[in-house]
Amino acid sequence: MGFFSKDIKTLDDLFVHTLRDIYYAEKQIEKALPKMVGKATDPQLKAGFEKHLEQTKGHIERVEEVFELHGVKAKQVNCPAIDGILEEADDVSGDVDDKDVLDAALIASAQAVEHYEMTRYGTLIAWAKQLGRSDCANVLAKNLREEQATDRKLTEIAESKINLQAAE
Ligand SMILES: [Fe+2]
Ligand SMILES: [Fe+2]
Repeated sequence: MGFFSKDIKTLDDLFVHTLRDIYYAEKQIEKALPKMVGKATDPQLKAGFEKHLEQTKGHIERVEEVFELHGVKAKQVNCPAIDGILEEADDVSGDVDDKDVLDAALIASAQAVEHYEMTRYGTLIAWAKQLGRSDCANVLAKNLREEQATDRKLTEIAESKINLQAAE
């Protein structure tokens, strides 16, 4: 599957391709989150990452459910976008010395991940509805709501304390 072979001909093909993209992304995020848990110092942030790791496992299961509902094979396609976001997160956090500044950096990286997921789920939900698959859209919307809630929580933790501590 790739753009060069031009095997994406219909909106349905594009929906399946993008579903495989977020499937890959979620699995990469599942691998990356334990590292972020390990690097975080603030207990609330650490617990937040742990909680989102559990949610991410649920996201993978829901994406698998959508593959099944839609009658296609659960398969991953490479997603260079999420690879880049996670690679940069790793690079930056490796370069930060101060633990409070590191927490701020981890939040920024995590929010980049959440926003990537939000844009993918937003698109997938819109296409699922267009394709008459409100059943798929409803399942995907559960993931979107958890990504949005996580993003809001990260903003709250950053603005209520982490950024202040990092600036000291
Ligand atoms: Fe997710
Ligand atoms: Fe997420």
